[in-house]
Amino acid sequence: MLSSFGKQIKSVKYTGLASLLLFVLSITGCSIKQPRQVAIASAHPLATQAGFEILQQGGNVYDAAVAVSAALAVVEPSGSGLGGGGFWLLHRESDDLDIMIDGREKAPLAAHKDMFLNAQGEPNKQLSLNGMLAAGIPGMPAGLVHLSEKYGNLPLATSLQPAIRYAEQGFPIGTRHQKLLSFRRNILEQHSETADIFLANGQLPAKNSLLKQADLAQTLKQLAEKGQAGFYQGSVAHKLVNAVQQEGGLWTLEDLLKYQIVERQPVSGSYQGIKITSASLPSSGGIVLIEALNILENTDLEAVDDITRKHLIVEAMRRAYHDRALYLGDTDFIDVPVERLINKHYAQGLSSTIRTDKTLPKEYLTGHTQEEQGGRNTTHFSIIDNEGNRVAATLSINFPFGAGLVASGTGVLLNNEMDDFASAKNSANGYGLVGGDANAIAPEKRMLSSMTPTFVQDNERIAVLGTPGGSRIISMVLLATLDFAAGNSPESWVKVKRFHHQYIPNHILYEKQGLSTEEIISLQSLGHHLKQTYNYGNMQAVQLNKSTNTLSAASDHRGEGLAKIQQINE
Ligand code: DON
Repeated sequence: MLSSFGKQIKSVKYTGLASLLLFVLSITGCSIKQPRQVAIASAHPLATQAGFEILQQGGNVYDAAVAVSAALAVVEPSGSGLGGGGFWLLHRESDDLDIMIDGREKAPLAAHKDMFLNAQGEPNKQLSLNGMLAAGIPGMPAGLVHLSEKYGNLPLATSLQPAIRYAEQGFPIGTRHQKLLSFRRNILEQHSETADIFLANGQLPAKNSLLKQADLAQTLKQLAEKGQAGFYQGSVAHKLVNAVQQEGGLWTLEDLLKYQIVERQPVSGSYQGIKITSASLPSSGGIVLIEALNILENTDLEAVDDITRKHLIVEAMRRAYHDRALYLGDTDFIDVPVERLINKHYAQGLSSTIRTDKTLPKEYLTGHTQEEQGGRNTTHFSIIDNEGNRVAATLSINFPFGAGLVASGTGVLLNNEMDDFASAKNSANGYGLVGGDANAIAPEKRMLSSMTPTFVQDNERIAVLGTPGGSRIISMVLLATLDFAAGNSPESWVKVKRFHHQYIPNHILYEKQGLSTEEIISLQSLGHHLKQTYNYGNMQAVQLNKSTNTLSAASDHRGEGLAKIQQINE
């Protein structure tokens, strides 16, 4: 981490000098083509390097995004993978295009509303979290193919090369990987092929030992050769379906054949003149983020003391997450009043229910108060070039190592995203999130997500950011956006001490040392319940400052990622 920080600072200085030179040349009337530079921040150094490797071969930022996504699927198998899904938010400068590639998993055709309920009608968490019933139909491979074919310069086979190499030759595992392995070990060890890949004779592998994934390399090669058909049809598809069915899952060949990504219009909003572009449904991220910002726009956060500021942010979070639980789900299946939820007048109404002297009484909040669990994982990366082309991608298999099962012969670890549906009305999922009919299970429906890949921009700066963290993703992106609004840098956004409220459970979660004793006491006196938690999130952020033509980048110190800026030789 320290070394990546060093590199980052060096690069920023370099870009500063380069832009000074350009400025001098421009006022003396000389014209010069600006050197191409790109910033990448991802959760793993090898993934960041994979992106630059592809850029140096003539790739654009979208090819780099394919390379980074695929590399993360190999070197951070706890967080995302071919067996999962995610959202890629893109901006293309030449035609000012903003688009979101929705590669979210879908419920299999044989799924039904009550599939996780026991005889008493209560949800069985074991089924929605562990094993084959927990796995939605993956969207990640289709997303990679689409991103490469529609937006890239290079063949998919080229952009997948670094990932194939990492899978074949292996990579040294780090502390974070070990920690997440031990968190899911009891599930991983139940399935011998999964244990053979990820454990060392049933034990946790040593730090820096090489993890090789030969079957995964073969699956990636099929994808490289045949595109979408290489995963969703033919030998890989047969192996996936056989494995899932053998373990009691519902997938069929038809499910795989029918899977398609969807290009969706991102949601957009503004906060004090700053433009926000973020994930649309089936992710709740953009809507909840914009709704919370709209509520906060009714008060001057800079003019109030720090405790009132935190209180107001928490109250905005509570109201926005409340609407998440009530209204949000897959718009291919249900109607959602999106325009109302992100409307400024609507937010004004909500903001009029906020008092500075006390929190909204808990009686206002209904439903379950099940606790969220700790130690989650997903992944995010951000890329921007000095023309402003950019990608924010948040990718997931849900819990660390997903459902904890590799489909035999494929190296593909299956997701447990089915738990992101509301298994029963108002029953909490693995993140304590509740929902109702809007997010009920139905065949081919996409489960509601909190992933929030986001662009934030003012007249000078364009930021690309996001993070893993389950339900807390949205509040982390909110805090980072407010820090952007305060004029701070990516290094500051990723460092912000985090606190979170998601309506239910009715408490503020805060990081260790995230709130001072005085703040805790004052917030309690306003009626808040508080709960300390471990440090969470793994934010990856990049920024282009257009007026100085300077790139900057930062990787969350809570993780082991790499943020880097590099000149690309043309
Ligand atoms: O889509 C979602 O909202 C979740 N499946 C994301 C999971 C996650 O971020 C886990 N991270 N720590």
